[in-house]
Amino acid sequence: MKPYEKLLLENKAWAAEKIMDDPDFFNRLADLQTPEFLWIGCSDSRVPANEITGTRPGEIFVHRNVANMVVHTDLNLLTVLDYAVNHLKVKHIIVCGHYGCGGVKASMSNHNFGIINKWLRNIKDVYRFHREEVDNIKNEDDRINRMVELNVQEQVMNLAKTSIVQKAWKNSHYPDLHGWVYGLKDGLIKPVYEIPAGTALDPLYEFDDL
Ligand code: CO
Repeated sequence: MKPYEKLLLENKAWAAEKIMDDPDFFNRLADLQTPEFLWIGCSDSRVPANEITGTRPGEIFVHRNVANMVVHTDLNLLTVLDYAVNHLKVKHIIVCGHYGCGGVKASMSNHNFGIINKWLRNIKDVYRFHREEVDNIKNEDDRINRMVELNVQEQVMNLAKTSIVQKAWKNSHYPDLHGWVYGLKDGLIKPVYEIPAGTALDPLYEFDDL
């Protein structure tokens, strides 16, 4: 059997098991999805949103990219965010990074990664904002892991800066924004930062006409 054929076989077994547990499972989900959460995570294969949070299909709307970035010109991210906030009306947005993130590590090096440089530049900017704190950490792994936390914090701030989130806050009491970091070595998620809905931002970033 070819490796990819195993995936299809596993899928058949999974679908059969779901129907055995709950005969209406797929019919119900096919008609409607009402997730309460938007997850913005890293593409890393070791950080599967549903599995590490014990959530089922239909419970989390997911966007993943290298190093869980919220880049304000990224049409893909903005489309997901707009749909999640304005149509699905999610109550919480979670940016989840992970310790030992290769994207964060790469951004702190001077290696030329070709087209990937353009994406990593956004993480280099986070490093520049927090350079003094990060450079004072002696151990390289600790330095990268602190940058992972700071990157999550900055991406949560980037979410708050979007007109999509600001408009939602003006009209309702959600979504709350959460910054989490997942530990590859222990499987545990550590909350590191939070911006509750309605929090006042630096006026520099506030829009007056939403
Ligand atoms: Co990563």
